[in-house]
Amino acid sequence: MPPEPVRLRRIRLPLRTARLLLRAPRPSDARVLAKAFSNREITRTLPLWPRYTLADARQFIARARKGIASGERYPLHCTLSDTGELVGGAGLEVRSLRDRRGHLGYWVEREHWGHGYASEAASRLCEEAFGTLRLHRLETGIVEGNARSRAVLTRLGFRSEGFDRDQWLIDGEYRRGERFGLLADEFHPYRKPPGS
Ligand SMILES: CC(C)(COP(=O)(O)OP(=O)(O)OC[C@H]1O[C@@H](n2cnc3c(N)ncnc32)[C@H](O)[C@@H]1OP(=O)(O)O)[C@@H](O)C(=O)NCCC(=O)NCCS
Repeated sequence: MPPEPVRLRRIRLPLRTARLLLRAPRPSDARVLAKAFSNREITRTLPLWPRYTLADARQFIARARKGIASGERYPLHCTLSDTGELVGGAGLEVRSLRDRRGHLGYWVEREHWGHGYASEAASRLCEEAFGTLRLHRLETGIVEGNARSRAVLTRLGFRSEGFDRDQWLIDGEYRRGERFGLLADEFHPYRKPPGS
């Protein structure tokens, strides 16, 4: 029997994790966003145009809010529950409702790398994707060699599904992209190690 057609369900925001709040971007986030996306350490593996301005950030935030209102895209910002500080972003998008397929992405401010925030936020979005939205498959891609992002994905159960040759032009050099996929029954939720 083919699966029943999926109705577009909505994720109720904000989402909470052990340490984070995932919420809709706000106009007042623009400065942090512009600073984060002007950092080469971030844009080396999250390719954007070389100059990411405050105007770009404002435009992104306005589009993100529209996407959330449509119920098909959730480009969320992650703040620390304790302090409200904006530490990154995590996004989920329904790419095909018919096929129950979605896309995941994330980034973390450079000074907050290595604390498990990306894993925590991505895991929470996977829960919503396979739970609330009832998706069957999530996809994403990395620039080859993005070891941190690869670690986040494989820990959640994502599997490598191959490479796209010369997918990204970074610092004048073409780089391969690595594709990843995660099926609903392969998902391993992230649990923050005690004491970290
Ligand atoms: C990818 C990114 C979001 C990871 O953020 P983070 O908060 O450091 O992620 P986490 O702490 O949850 O996990 C990082 C993992 O990388 C591992 N790691 C840390 N340094 C590493 C290194 N030099 N090489 C390989 N792995 C490393 C960590 O050990 C951790 O895995 P583990 O907990 O299983 O040991 C962050 O580096 C980033 O924003 N990069 C730029 C944007 C980007 O590439 N986004 C992803 C696009 S798909």
